[in-house]
Amino acid sequence: MKNILILGASGGIARIAIDLFLNEDDIKLTLFLRNSRRLKNLASERVQIVEGDVLDLNKLTEAMHGQDVVYANLAGDLKKMAENIVESMHEANVKRLIFISSMGIYDEVPGEKYGSVLNPYRNAAKVIEASDLEYTILRPAWFTNANEVDYETTQKGEPFKGTSVSRKSVADLVVKLAINPELEVRHSLGVNKPE
Ligand SMILES: NC(=O)c1ccc[n+]([C@@H]2O[C@H](COP(=O)([O-])OP(=O)(O)OC[C@H]3O[C@@H](n4cnc5c(N)ncnc54)[C@H](OP(=O)(O)O)[C@@H]3O)[C@@H](O)[C@H]2O)c1
Repeated sequence: MKNILILGASGGIARIAIDLFLNEDDIKLTLFLRNSRRLKNLASERVQIVEGDVLDLNKLTEAMHGQDVVYANLAGDLKKMAENIVESMHEANVKRLIFISSMGIYDEVPGEKYGSVLNPYRNAAKVIEASDLEYTILRPAWFTNANEVDYETTQKGEPFKGTSVSRKSVADLVVKLAINPELEVRHSLGVNKPE
């Protein structure tokens, strides 16, 4: 049984990922979110819900104990959140992190400069990359609601490809990475729909 902690479990990608995770055997989910009313009733023996704020280091550290994989699907003060995630993972001796960021943090999108709006994403990535965690940072293109799994990835240092990707594709990649913890370790992946 693999224990997976989802931070920001009410988020758009996280909700899709939860359904995909529950299609898999031998996965147990801990859903960490600020307001549990924001999740539909997930009656399953394999789901535990923890109400908490990622900015609350003690609560976060408590939720980390016994987890195999942490999947962060957050927005807001991402630098502080990343600092708390790294610290609490160290404290609880959890190594594997999947963190959703955004395309453009390395100015890797040909012809685009997203500027300071991406600073929280950039700064969070710096915190994670400076840690010794087994992280995978995902840098998705603009999300669509297409009911399809169709994506390709680019590595840090390569130009970003494409402009959009379905939420379902990103969720599919998250689940694949969580189930196969040896994949894409200490990589930062651009994620887009092939054009
Ligand atoms: N839209 C796009 O095209 C696009 C493209 C690339 C990347 N992204 C980024 O990808 C990330 C994931 O996207 P998404 O659509 O799944 O995000 P989302 O729906 O905005 O979800 C973000 C989640 O973060 C949670 N959150 C915020 N502050 C928190 C805190 N202090 N403690 C605990 N939870 C907290 C929110 O919970 P509450 O319900 O409590 O507010 C929310 O559920 C976002 O950062 C997004 O900006 C978006």
